[in-house]
Amino acid sequence: MRLLILGGTGGLGRELARRGGPHVMAAGSRDADLRDPVQVRSLVRRVRPDVIVNAAYRQDDWAVTADGAAHVALAAVSSGARLVHVSSDAVFSGASGRYDESCPPVPATMYGAAKAAAETAVRAVDPGAVIARTSLIVGGPQTVIVARVHAGGVFFTDDVRCPVHVSDLAAALLELAVSGRAGVHHVAGADAVSRYELARLIAGRDGLDVSTVTAGTRAGAGLTGAADVRLDSTATQAVLNVVLRGARSFLSPASGRG
Ligand SMILES: NC(=O)c1ccc[n+]([C@@H]2O[C@H](COP(=O)([O-])OP(=O)(O)OC[C@H]3O[C@@H](n4cnc5c(N)ncnc54)[C@H](OP(=O)(O)O)[C@@H]3O)[C@@H](O)[C@H]2O)c1
Repeated sequence: MRLLILGGTGGLGRELARRGGPHVMAAGSRDADLRDPVQVRSLVRRVRPDVIVNAAYRQDDWAVTADGAAHVALAAVSSGARLVHVSSDAVFSGASGRYDESCPPVPATMYGAAKAAAETAVRAVDPGAVIARTSLIVGGPQTVIVARVHAGGVFFTDDVRCPVHVSDLAAALLELAVSGRAGVHHVAGADAVSRYELARLIAGRDGLDVSTVTAGTRAGAGLTGAADVRLDSTATQAVLNVVLRGARSFLSPASGRG
């Protein structure tokens, strides 16, 4: 299988590349800027992938996250490649807690809106594509949330997510890539934890002083309301071989570092 990973220089992309077999190209923004449909199309023509996984995004750049996803879907369709598009729990506001694959997006941030727009574009252009929504990605020190814990600071007790281990997520995405499945899939960890609990678990795993992890609330930081976004991955887990472990399990002392 010839695999093209967009966002291949990122935390998830590097793990996908590590697991993707002998015919992988991991592309970053230097290989093709997703904002430019011509660059995207010519990269896809050059690589001739069987599968494209789009794990590229830029938090504050609609043109990358939303327009870029549309450019990738168009290139995938015109080259006959299968597409796995990585989306986010940020498409949900956190007002209703548990969200399964049937829940329509209700974003509360510009980033969430861009991810929701990307989903709409991908679904319209390439109905056979897999749209894989995930939650906080936890891996080694280079993953965003782990780096934040190492830097120290305040972590919210009223901000709840279902973190996933980067290796479980990459394995699940590659399983979905070779499946016949299409549409929205939730690929998050089994445990719902607050950012504060997650930060303490990461600090414990990495041998940091857990007392440097400070508890706070969104309200205390001047943000509106709690953000309780629990991605329910039950339906997707039922069709996967890989087990989407919960954070309390993959960050337990018994599971080792990584
Ligand atoms: N990290 C999380 O906790 C989290 C949570 C939920 C969902 N997600 C989703 O998971 C996916 C992967 O996240 P990640 O944490 O692995 O991301 P990341 O480490 O920040 O990597 C982002 C990737 O996007 C690429 N990129 C940025 N701008 C680009 C452009 N203009 N053209 C082409 N590529 C561009 C970057 O390439 P260069 O470095 O070469 O510029 C990099 O490879 C994303 O879809 C994200 O929305 C992440």
